[in-house]
Amino acid sequence: MDARAVLTTKRDGGELSDAAIESFLEGYVSGAIPDYQASALLMAIYVHGMRPRELATWTRAMLNSGEVYAFGELDKPTVDKHSTGGIGDKASIPLAPAVAACGAAVPMVSGRGLGHTGGTLDKLEAIPGLSTALAREDFARLLREIGVAMGGQTAALVPADRKLYALRDVTGLIESVPLIASSILSKKLAEGIGGLVLDVKFGSGAFLCEVERGAELARCMLDIASEVGVRAAAYQTAMDRPLGCAIGHTLEIEESLDCLRGGGPADLRELVCLLGGEMLSLAGIASDTSAGSSAIAAALDDGRALEVFARMVAAQGGDTKALDDASRMPSCAGRSVFEAPASGHLSWGDLRGLGRALTALGGGRRALDDEVDHAVGLRVLRPTGAELRAGEPLIEVHHRAGAGLDEALRELAGAIHIGPLSQPTPLVLGRME
Ligand code: URA
Repeated sequence: MDARAVLTTKRDGGELSDAAIESFLEGYVSGAIPDYQASALLMAIYVHGMRPRELATWTRAMLNSGEVYAFGELDKPTVDKHSTGGIGDKASIPLAPAVAACGAAVPMVSGRGLGHTGGTLDKLEAIPGLSTALAREDFARLLREIGVAMGGQTAALVPADRKLYALRDVTGLIESVPLIASSILSKKLAEGIGGLVLDVKFGSGAFLCEVERGAELARCMLDIASEVGVRAAAYQTAMDRPLGCAIGHTLEIEESLDCLRGGGPADLRELVCLLGGEMLSLAGIASDTSAGSSAIAAALDDGRALEVFARMVAAQGGDTKALDDASRMPSCAGRSVFEAPASGHLSWGDLRGLGRALTALGGGRRALDDEVDHAVGLRVLRPTGAELRAGEPLIEVHHRAGAGLDEALRELAGAIHIGPLSQPTPLVLGRME
């Protein structure tokens, strides 16, 4: 393969053959193709996009750059969910065990938080002792014995994505719909799943804020899934307000446990039941999403989902006593209250300010190798739309002896909007398949 011919074809808006895509990515992962040629190709893709066939081949080549899991020996269908993430999105934590409790196997490979968004792995690691470093054999054993495993991307899983993502990060090429879609889908498809539900967020706290861009990403990911023969559906859901009330690792685990006990915030439960119902429907366990949602609600209410979660925590080395005893979870003594700065109804301006506030307290990551403090966090005390009086407590801030507190309070002041009552956007905008 002549790498320059590949670059000039894409530079001029042409279409790449399957062979050209496969050998270029193979060469890049092996080191035969240098970063400067790969970044030139990524830039050309950013500008010209990719045709559906090119994108399916590109994603397949990424996926096949490393280990691909296959859990064919299980007597259960495999299904997973991916969310584009946001503020307080802990849905995976109650969702995965609830779906497993209803009879599907969920091999969930998740990510860490970066920038304003949190990551499922960091949240799970707030549980003392819990390890998310799972190899393929660990996934296989946990799925066989419990039906769910939640781990991180190993070095062997989609190495092409690790290299390409790092390169996109330093060359300003993250925000490209085909490159995001192939990055997400290659990792999810490497889990060897038969069904996938996509939760694509919109709003100021989302990765892509505009509804239209989110729909474009959802369409692109659904097309790839269809090309590779995985059943998939996507929902666009609101991230113009936090999901639930808790933001920060320990607080989000506690809120997830409330949901797993049949309680917790209504929006979190609604989303878990909807996405879980769709997963059961795609897996062929429920006749449709509505029947699946009822099954998930029952598993949350009768304790089966919590039991599966506790077994998973134990199998991944976590302290199961911490699930019933909050004093065993990471904690910090500092408490401050952010008060409503005016009277009126609560809405949110730039929701990312909440993510930046968490980062200022030490609970978020500015760089990939930063440590996160699991104990710090925010608890929103009043629901979006609530009528507030000036000076009333609005957000409880958990901090470590005031570290980062001034910056966090400034971010909160910028994120909150108080004014006349406005019509809230629906939690779920629509379904695509
Ligand atoms: N998340 C991913 O996994 N990849 C991207 O490119 C963007 C977000």
